[in-house]
Amino acid sequence: MVKQQSKKSCETTAIIAAANELLLKNRRTVAGHMFTIPSPYEYRHQWLWDSCFHAIVLRHFDTEAAEEELRSLMASQKPSGMVPHESKYVLLSRMLPYTSRITQPPIIARAVLDLYKKSRNREFLAEIFPKLQHYHNWLAEKREAGNVLKVVDSNESGEDNSVLWDDELTIPVHRTYLRWLTTYVPFFPQLAAVISVKATSFYADSLGCMAEIAKTLGNTGQSGSYRKKHSAVIAAMAKAFRQKDGLYYSLTGKGKPIPYKTNSLFAPMYCGAATRKEAMMLVKEHLLNEKEFWTQFPIPTVAADEKKFNPKGYWRGPMWVNINWMLHRGLLRYGFKAVADELLQKTIAAVRKSGFREYYNPLTGEGLGARQFGWSTLVADMMLR
Ligand code: GLC
Repeated sequence: MVKQQSKKSCETTAIIAAANELLLKNRRTVAGHMFTIPSPYEYRHQWLWDSCFHAIVLRHFDTEAAEEELRSLMASQKPSGMVPHESKYVLLSRMLPYTSRITQPPIIARAVLDLYKKSRNREFLAEIFPKLQHYHNWLAEKREAGNVLKVVDSNESGEDNSVLWDDELTIPVHRTYLRWLTTYVPFFPQLAAVISVKATSFYADSLGCMAEIAKTLGNTGQSGSYRKKHSAVIAAMAKAFRQKDGLYYSLTGKGKPIPYKTNSLFAPMYCGAATRKEAMMLVKEHLLNEKEFWTQFPIPTVAADEKKFNPKGYWRGPMWVNINWMLHRGLLRYGFKAVADELLQKTIAAVRKSGFREYYNPLTGEGLGARQFGWSTLVADMMLR
């Protein structure tokens, strides 16, 4: 027993040390901005939600580096308040003043708050808060559809090749190089918006974080407004997304439910929008169901019994560590401690088997996509919570 325990704690220490090492290896400084690239093999710039995930892990090792990561991210903020999904393009070691024209799920305030809980650095909070306010004003103005959030392009959802767009696109833009046009080329029309359960869940959580940050800074008025907005978004979610089967589905731009069972079903647990009864049903009937989400290396991005499930297809079946991280938090929020632990153990098993890869076959644990992939180190944050 003692032997077994110490083997486990050695493994834990090794994974945490490897996470730290990877983030150091992927660190770059470009034109005075220090940030972490997702992978040296495929993604050599700064990416929005990747950097937030990197900062969430980095806070355990080096809070100043985590602050730099977020400072660098906000340095790409547009005058409108928008934060682009990709920035810090480099050509021959020089930064190009060019950014993508879409954003990514709003998780910056979450990263800032989690980091603050480790660093207790109020100065950094005070420095970044006005930028976050500007960003949230932009989200409210440009991305809200009646208190829930729409994403204007599949790349903006962060799940570039998600099945949620399949029935909306007349040409399979998301599967070809053509996706580049809607993301990077100015004025090229965006092809299809989705009113998204996942993006709204991140948004609701983000508003809660803003309320807490404002309160910490002694700004009770602002804190109250964010709290109010947070409640309004949570209330709007059930109204907009809940269908007859009790599950929350994203909607097409025209408001039609998109009834595929994807990992987004669990997003309302992340932000606390699901009722206890709904959470229980989600966990018992869907998460722990071996035919749907409880595969050997869970969770698949798309339920294993969906026709569209493809265990190796980009965002169309594989396990991604950032999704497990989100689910892990949701499970803990609703008191499913044993299930959260099991999910963590299964995530560790995939990382132990295949290293920090971009995504994993949920049936075999085989590592797929980019190597030395930054946000897969989120497993360390799951372990250190
Ligand atoms: C891919 C992913 C996206 C991520 C980016 C960098 O485009 O789909 O979510 O931000 O790679 O890792």
